[in-house]
Amino acid sequence: MRILFLGDIVGRSGRDGVTARLPELRRQLSLDLVIVNAENASHGFGLSPGIARDLMGCGVDVITLGNHAWDRRDLIGEIDGMPAVVRPLNFPPGTPGQGSTVVTLADGRKALVVNVMGRLFMDPLDDPFRLTLELLARHRLGVTVQAAVVDVHAEASSEKWALGHVLDGKVSLVVGTHTHTPTADHRILKAGTAFQSDAGMCGDYDSVIGMQKEAAVARFVRKMPGERLQPAEGEATVCGLMVETDDVTGLARKVAPLRQGGMLSGAMPDF
Ligand SMILES: [Fe+2]
Ligand SMILES: [Fe+2]
Repeated sequence: MRILFLGDIVGRSGRDGVTARLPELRRQLSLDLVIVNAENASHGFGLSPGIARDLMGCGVDVITLGNHAWDRRDLIGEIDGMPAVVRPLNFPPGTPGQGSTVVTLADGRKALVVNVMGRLFMDPLDDPFRLTLELLARHRLGVTVQAAVVDVHAEASSEKWALGHVLDGKVSLVVGTHTHTPTADHRILKAGTAFQSDAGMCGDYDSVIGMQKEAAVARFVRKMPGERLQPAEGEATVCGLMVETDDVTGLARKVAPLRQGGMLSGAMPDF
């Protein structure tokens, strides 16, 4: 299965970058499954139901979220009717929406997509390790699903690496989101799971993690509440990674980063 995962879409710049490039990327890379993190798609904060539908209309199959999941309150009432929008698995019991989804491709192959949040330097939540393992006991790679992708939405790379090792051999890909900075550590772990600490954001990098730099810098310097942060509006770099998996084992055969547009150096998978 050929899977593209794109990191946090930030504001209009990120949305425009993804919607402009995705149809061609889908064709050019023969993608079977496209997953994007869109927790910052609505003006940097949250995801409106309308933007979720727009993303799906341009070739996105599954949307993951994170700590900004509920910044757009209108999603709270609609998420239960949107099976392809996944919020963190370790939110408290009774939270609307779901922490994972199983997508069935046109040819019948199935893929599990999970969103889970780390706890280091983040809100206190339920144990991401235990809950993910409990979920995977019900979705066996190569048995009930042909591929499985876990988006680890976390601040600390140490926690992401640790979860990668715990899930190695049990899923196709463990990929980090939330820092908005792409890491160069993409690799296939010992037991066959592809891993990258952070996919990076889809947004304008002439910014502070996607937000206009002047106001963001002032917050650090003045230590006082300032003006509301606004997304930067320059051209986005669309950032993520591509994985090719083996349909029998569900494990990764190849992994490569993708970066297109904007001010970061370009990268395109060549398989
Ligand atoms: Fe984010
Ligand atoms: Fe986040």
